[in-house]
Amino acid sequence: MNICVVGAGYVGMTTAVCFAEMGYKVRIIDIDEKKISKINEGKIPIYEEGMQELLEKNIERIKATNEYDFSEDIVFICVGTPSKEDGKIELKYVLDAVENVSLKIRDKGIIVIKSTVFPGTTEKILKPLIQKYRKNVSVAVNPEFLREGKAIYDFLNPDRIIIGTDNKRSADLLKKLYEPLKAPILLTTLSEAEMIKYASNALLAAKISFSNEIGNLCKILGIDAYNVMKGVGMDHRISPHFLNSGIGFGGSCFPKDLKALYAGSKEMGYEMNLIKAILKINDKQPLRIIKILEKYIEIEGKTIAVLGIAFKPNTDDIRESRSIPVIHELKRRGAIVRLYDPMAMENAKKIFDDIEYCDNVDEAIENADACLILTEWKEFEKIDFSKMRSKIVIEGRRILKNREGIIYEGICW
Ligand code: UDX
Repeated sequence: MNICVVGAGYVGMTTAVCFAEMGYKVRIIDIDEKKISKINEGKIPIYEEGMQELLEKNIERIKATNEYDFSEDIVFICVGTPSKEDGKIELKYVLDAVENVSLKIRDKGIIVIKSTVFPGTTEKILKPLIQKYRKNVSVAVNPEFLREGKAIYDFLNPDRIIIGTDNKRSADLLKKLYEPLKAPILLTTLSEAEMIKYASNALLAAKISFSNEIGNLCKILGIDAYNVMKGVGMDHRISPHFLNSGIGFGGSCFPKDLKALYAGSKEMGYEMNLIKAILKINDKQPLRIIKILEKYIEIEGKTIAVLGIAFKPNTDDIRESRSIPVIHELKRRGAIVRLYDPMAMENAKKIFDDIEYCDNVDEAIENADACLILTEWKEFEKIDFSKMRSKIVIEGRRILKNREGIIYEGICW
């Protein structure tokens, strides 16, 4: 079986190198010529742990092109579906890709939608679009559940594989394709598969916002939220994962998917109040750190060291990072903001041009009036705060190993 992947972003690239690792020949299509030449030279166009090694190892099986010129029978659509102003997703990249593939794909081929689309999109919009050009081409939905930074591992070791189809032939073919991974496979309808992706992300985000609400109350009551959720997570029906309270969730998936689910449901005449609450809690959570800071200092004119702007550790991605609203608020209140992040400085510079960028933790905290730790980078575990002007340290993620000699508070602890 040969595979074609449209879109050389982190989902498409992960899909491509992992299928190549499984022994399949893979063609990658992307409109960006620079990305294409990089891939053909054996260099990955985006950073993802372990991806470079897999590309080099399987380069013989991977070919990239910027034209819709392919002969494969199974084509994965992995282009982006960014948020629009109203929360709904921008479908135009998916529509373009599906149309271009439909014009070219052989009869009996399968177009597999990996891009996250609102439930019903494939059945109601993409399938009719494909059938306008090709009566004998099938469409399937195969959502991804990849975490950034762990995408390669997640692809090759999935908890489950969801295959949404409307015919047995496609289901059998896609099942066979994934067989080497020896993972549980659930066959569903097209729309069920789309909804599984949204429901999974919404439930994970719900666990975080729930933990933050419990954490906020724990803080008021003087109870250790981490010990509480440890106890809660020991119930096998709940599981210990995604129960860490802090400044909330960021990244390219959770906020986007929840907004799309909420906006889409509202359009259908059903307002999902739980989803609305999850987002609202997440929006408010970062600003709690400012409230805590205010207890200790008048923010105006003070130098505040902010450690971490990546939305989680081990990535340079700052999309929807909870540090962004914190920095905006500090600036609005007239603080001098000093930022340090081990990987995400270049991306931060694209958003903030009037804050101080530091080369390391020491530079950021020297003579600072307060320090906010907002991403749980390993190197923030042990910090020498002795050179701060006043040693006020507030954590948005629980990471510090030693809190001796500082005035310390956590956002929920
Ligand atoms: C997520 C999903 O995990 C993945 O299945 C989906 O396909 C894409 O979205 P990712 O965005 O890479 O993956 O990040 P993830 O590791 O899940 O973390 C998301 C955010 O939640 C981060 O900002 C993280 O700091 C936060 N988080 C996570 C918490 O605040 N508490 C937790 O307990 C767990």
